[in-house]
Amino acid sequence: MVVGELTEETQLLVIGGGPGGYVAAFHAADLGVQTMIVDDSPLLGGVCLREGCIPSKALLHVAHLIESAGEASHFGIGFNAPKIDVDKLRSWKQSVVDKLCGGVKTLAGKRGVRVITGRATLENNKSARIHGAEVSRVKFKQCIIATGSSIKRLPESLVPKDCCIDSTGALELKDIPKSLLVIGGGYIGLELGQVYAALGSKVTVIEALDRILAGCDEDLARPLIARLKKQFAAIHTGAKLEGCTQTSRGVEVKFSKGGEAHKEVFEKVLVSVGRSPNTRDIGLENTQIKVNDRGFIAVDAQRRTAEKNIFAIGDVAGDPMLAHKASREGIVAAEVIAGKNSAYDVRAVPAVVYTSPEVAWCGLTESEAKQAGKEIKVGKFGWGASGRAIAMGRPEGLTKVIADPKTNRVLGVGICGEHAGDLIAEAVLAIEMGATAEDLAMTIHPHPATSETIMEAAESVFGHAIHAMK
Ligand code: NAI
Repeated sequence: MVVGELTEETQLLVIGGGPGGYVAAFHAADLGVQTMIVDDSPLLGGVCLREGCIPSKALLHVAHLIESAGEASHFGIGFNAPKIDVDKLRSWKQSVVDKLCGGVKTLAGKRGVRVITGRATLENNKSARIHGAEVSRVKFKQCIIATGSSIKRLPESLVPKDCCIDSTGALELKDIPKSLLVIGGGYIGLELGQVYAALGSKVTVIEALDRILAGCDEDLARPLIARLKKQFAAIHTGAKLEGCTQTSRGVEVKFSKGGEAHKEVFEKVLVSVGRSPNTRDIGLENTQIKVNDRGFIAVDAQRRTAEKNIFAIGDVAGDPMLAHKASREGIVAAEVIAGKNSAYDVRAVPAVVYTSPEVAWCGLTESEAKQAGKEIKVGKFGWGASGRAIAMGRPEGLTKVIADPKTNRVLGVGICGEHAGDLIAEAVLAIEMGATAEDLAMTIHPHPATSETIMEAAESVFGHAIHAMK
């Protein structure tokens, strides 16, 4: 042993304190497992809390407020144009993050989970080297890798670093640019694009594929796209980025679309073209653990890697890279470690894009069914006939239920509309419980509420939604 080295032992070492890692650690501790978390940030909560889901939702809430105030003139209520104090807005967003990160830290302390701030690298299947902490090595019986993912970058030749910001930079909210180009029309690009548009930026999106939000059914994205077209300066789909150059006037961006060359100058460029799993520099090469061609760690249903005592959860363990999927996997891994008979066996993981309107879906999508040649029945209900949506002045939206044509079992649900992200939970439960479309149709939903659209879409599966045109 090198003089001055401090080795500690624990039953369970969790590498990474995000919504996968901390949930796994807390559940393991609750089940009586001696647990330690190592995270390179002193703030527990991971990217989700510090620079992802939570700060973006805080800013989206503000964007929504600005938009709603602007639209209140339809109801005969007039407000002056908003005065935006960026410093105050930034501190408010930070206070939300700090409160939640502080809460996670307190929860760790109350459970007796030891938290070490440093970087862990596996030395073998029994110990990890810790860098930048007072503890230099941790010996463990079991380990959970929950190291998350990092922002994907475009090649330096295409987008030099000094030319662009990423989602972390955009959430820092240094200032509000007059013009913003968003490269990538996915979750992050559209959410942050809407934030900046509400704060006053002229936002343009370029997307390589032939539509934005390609992961969800086209009809679900339509109400959102119609709104974005009014809020954004332009949305270029099927566009190929040719290069960016920093000039004295801003960032000059060249792209082509349908064989036509475009050149435009933007004050800022946000690159949001996906995320990659963090499997490098964590010492996997010192173990039997393998990654697949997409960089994900191969795991079994219990989230065990090729090393029987090492588990992997969250963004490093496969798609979808979503916080709630990571948390569920964390619960499973913790239970297996505590000797319980547990497995990750889910039928539906909800996906939510927190734009306005929100888009949420779970289970099978119509496009997936089509691709797989699977027969389905689909019931749709447009929000234009929802009393609640009309009363809120937000009748744009669609709810659809996808069912098995033989058994009527609910296979998937998609919702676009205000608070779709909250409504989708009912659909996830229905799919998990093996409910049929009749079950959804026969369940009394509160009136007036947008949740009624789920009931009516389920009725539509049988062709008799009360408030739909025959
Ligand atoms: P994304 O995968 O959702 O979207 C990236 C988009 O960029 C795709 O449409 C892709 O076709 C496009 N693209 C790729 N290269 C391009 C290029 N050179 N030029 C133009 N377009 C290009 O990725 P995003 O938005 O960065 O989000 C990353 C992940 O983070 C998501 O997949 C999601 O798992 C997670 N996330 C989840 C959120 C939520 O739950 N609400 C919010 C934000 C992120």
